[in-house]
Amino acid sequence: MNRRFLMATAALAGLGVAAIAVPLAAQDLPPLAQKDRYKVGFAQMESNNPWRIAETKSFHDTAEECGWDLIATDAAGSAAKQVADVDSMIAQGIDVLFLPPREEKPLIPAVMKAKAAGIPTFLVDRSVDPNVAQAGRDYVAFLGSDFVDQGRRVAEWTLENFDGEKGIIVELEGTTGSSPANDRKKGFDDVMAQHDNMEIVASQSGDFARDLGRQVMETLLQAHPDVNIVYAHNDEMAIGAIQALELAGRKPGEDILVVSIDGTRDALQAIIDGKMGVTVESSPFFGPLACETMKRYAAGETIEPWVQVSDRIFTKENAADHIDEAY
Ligand code: AHR
Repeated sequence: MNRRFLMATAALAGLGVAAIAVPLAAQDLPPLAQKDRYKVGFAQMESNNPWRIAETKSFHDTAEECGWDLIATDAAGSAAKQVADVDSMIAQGIDVLFLPPREEKPLIPAVMKAKAAGIPTFLVDRSVDPNVAQAGRDYVAFLGSDFVDQGRRVAEWTLENFDGEKGIIVELEGTTGSSPANDRKKGFDDVMAQHDNMEIVASQSGDFARDLGRQVMETLLQAHPDVNIVYAHNDEMAIGAIQALELAGRKPGEDILVVSIDGTRDALQAIIDGKMGVTVESSPFFGPLACETMKRYAAGETIEPWVQVSDRIFTKENAADHIDEAY
């Protein structure tokens, strides 16, 4: 296998891209010609939360500047529809595919079909099962955050800032089978497992959605009335959990600590209002990075398998400084 290592560095508006050393395996990938205009597919998974809406907007905002004739679809929360949307884009003759796979396994056929059709694919923000499909072989690269590290950073902040004796933790997981849900759980749980004074008493999916987060929190609160920490895999579920807690007479920020990931406007406001402790950033603004990476690939550069985005952290110290740029 023709593997080598390289360093990649980039800095783009809205996304910090870290320098990383990674192995490359670039055989068999479909090439991309250098042209003034490209027919580009962006197969979004759903549009039921601010993060997804901001990501889709970022692709639309980038389109003209990058010479994209953009076909953007919305799979409305269905992995099967997302696969069908990619099929339709292939039939329409796209030059490049940008795909945020809703779940790790069901979207693999879409990746493989795009490759078979000679279309270079870039996974954005979520990934697929690396045991089956691999960057540098089946798709060009994954553009996104280190979700394990996000979970780890939330756990570390919680350990430093929780002032009770024993942490009774409820975890609201993201979409079952998705890479951020798997990895954010691993990052957080692994850290907490090393601390005897921290116990995760329940961990259940709220599908990254505010309303489901609220419903799941309502149910788990009845089973675990002594909960004093909520870790949500995204801000939408954290806001839903805050609603459920307040309805039950709890005081988020006073008698229970809520911690999360993303950096939405509502989460930053909740931090400013003292109801949430921290949110580790996961930026949705992928359009400029997608444009830059695609152009590097068209120019013949070997792309690192993971174009890694670096994430900030928002707390009461800096939330007010960033709320105007939030989504
Ligand atoms: O894949 C990234 C995650 O997906 C975001 O954290 C979440 O809000 C979104 O739905």
